[in-house]
Amino acid sequence: MQATLEISGKTRVFGCISDPISHVRAPSVFNPLFEKHGIDAVMVPLHVPPRGLSEFIMGLRAMPNFGGMSITLPHKVPIMEFCDEIGQQGKLVGAVNYAAFDKDRRLIADNCDGSGFVSGLLAAGHEIAQRRILMVGAGGAARAIAFSLADSGISHLSIANRTMSTAEALVEAVSSAYPNTEVQPAPPNPKGFDVIINTTSLGLNEDDKLPIDPKLLNPSQLVAEIIMNPEETAILKAAKTVGCRIHYGRPMFDHQVAIQAKLFGYNFSI
Ligand SMILES: NC(=O)c1ccc[n+]([C@@H]2O[C@H](COP(=O)([O-])OP(=O)(O)OC[C@H]3O[C@@H](n4cnc5c(N)ncnc54)[C@H](OP(=O)(O)O)[C@@H]3O)[C@@H](O)[C@H]2O)c1
Repeated sequence: MQATLEISGKTRVFGCISDPISHVRAPSVFNPLFEKHGIDAVMVPLHVPPRGLSEFIMGLRAMPNFGGMSITLPHKVPIMEFCDEIGQQGKLVGAVNYAAFDKDRRLIADNCDGSGFVSGLLAAGHEIAQRRILMVGAGGAARAIAFSLADSGISHLSIANRTMSTAEALVEAVSSAYPNTEVQPAPPNPKGFDVIINTTSLGLNEDDKLPIDPKLLNPSQLVAEIIMNPEETAILKAAKTVGCRIHYGRPMFDHQVAIQAKLFGYNFSI
């Protein structure tokens, strides 16, 4: 869908900041949604080289019609220094991916990678409270998802990763933030888990190996993915064949958009 909103002096302006900039997707996601919901707002790509970040934020703070922004690399960590308030997930993850100015031009930021994943899972009708979860992968997205899972009342989280030291470091960080949740490093063996989540990039390419052995799955399990393209990765296909319920990667993205829009002051129903 192409945005056809007319921009006037009353239009609220949002941004997506990045360096480089040409790959960013947020404007092409937000603008059609602004239009669909009859919201007089526009999101523009903002190319911000790292050394200009401080002056850039100072300038935005002085612009009352600038509402907020989606934040991508390389700004997710350095922008925190210029924020007035950081949400719990942003603090735990140590990086933020969206921010908005409040009425006093204070910059409020948070991270919605993990909350987007959990919100998408719950909206699809999948339960995670009191469930035993195996997460394969311990990269950037996994880090955010691990804290959000622990925040959602799961009973146990095992984290498997090719580089075990990264999994161990994540286990330590989650255990220290959520001492009542059982978290441990583990091999990628799905036996004994209710939910298995692939957060690795295995599945992006046709010739990738599988993140887990599907022969070890059973039909009572839910297998969730965060990769969006292809929609149905090889592990989801294999899990479906076994009879497992599956969950695609797209809802994580859609729910992040809704969470960001809420901070921008809008309610996008999904
Ligand atoms: N749906 C969404 O909204 C959404 C949001 C964010 C990301 N994603 C997707 O999530 C995936 C991961 O993103 P990320 O930002 O977390 O990436 P990342 O920080 O680079 O982490 C990549 C993870 O995959 C593992 N991995 C990579 N290649 C591997 C291989 N050949 N064998 C075994 N493990 C391998 C890495 O293990 P090591 O630690 O051993 O390297 C690490 O755990 C990407 O495909 C991305 O498209 C989706």
